[in-house]
Amino acid sequence: MTERTALITGAARGIGFGIGRRLARAGLQVVLVDRDGDAVAAAAETLSGEGMRARPAVVDVADFAAVQAVAAGLMAELGPIHVLVNNAGISQPRSILEISEREWDEVIAIHLKGAFNWCKALAPGMVAAAHGRIVNISSVNAHTGGGELAVSKVSYAAAKAGLLGMTRALARELAPHVCVNAICPGSIATDLTAAKIGALRDRIVGSIPLGRLGTPEDIAEVVAFLATAEPCFITGEVIDVDGGQFIN
Ligand SMILES: NC(=O)c1ccc[n+]([C@@H]2O[C@H](COP(=O)([O-])OP(=O)(O)OC[C@H]3O[C@@H](n4cnc5c(N)ncnc54)[C@H](O)[C@@H]3O)[C@@H](O)[C@H]2O)c1
Repeated sequence: MTERTALITGAARGIGFGIGRRLARAGLQVVLVDRDGDAVAAAAETLSGEGMRARPAVVDVADFAAVQAVAAGLMAELGPIHVLVNNAGISQPRSILEISEREWDEVIAIHLKGAFNWCKALAPGMVAAAHGRIVNISSVNAHTGGGELAVSKVSYAAAKAGLLGMTRALARELAPHVCVNAICPGSIATDLTAAKIGALRDRIVGSIPLGRLGTPEDIAEVVAFLATAEPCFITGEVIDVDGGQFIN
């Protein structure tokens, strides 16, 4: 894996940082992307301090032109990027009765268009190299629509379900050498969920058959499998990593 490079969005903290650390431990060079410049620089320094190859890149994933420019600069410097993890995201607690047009657009722009922006930038290189892995971080919310114990409501559920459709389409369009899959995390303890978990911990844990909250490492382990298993014979799949919170 030492000749591979992975790029993870939303990697300054939480699940994205956990994925970055796990892929770096597997030997890949990792690019940690985030719009929070100070935090992503500190995150990359932490991994470098642990002896791993990590560098930060600062960009808003929702900005198409900026993503294309940052991606071109990274590829000119580092060569091909073999693994893309679309993870950047925000929560949005407003229902259809409360949400504004601007709030709706923001969620779709970050979760759905952000993933499009990075796929548009990196998929051509993967196809040309006849090798690539894309992992999209969706949510169990895409299946359930949220509900009382969930942080987010309609815009988030729509964006995350859209990501599953995009995953299936890209799996077909980028075959046979690029595998594209999605992961649906359940309740994972991060900054994004801290307030909700603080208020409703017992009920949330009670909704998880395996009896605990998830960790970034739980998600990172599955990403590592999808990103590094050779040969790849899984594509277009959606894997729920949720301790049984959503059993279909
Ligand atoms: N925590 C959970 O329970 C949970 C469950 C299901 C899905 N998810 C998804 O997992 C992903 C990571 O969530 P988390 O819990 O680690 O969140 P988090 O808030 O801890 O971290 C998200 C990171 O994404 C970055 N980010 C947000 N918008 C961005 C943008 N426009 N451009 C670049 N970076 C941006 C933030 O700065 C932050 O560093 C999200 O897509 C989230 O929807 C989380």
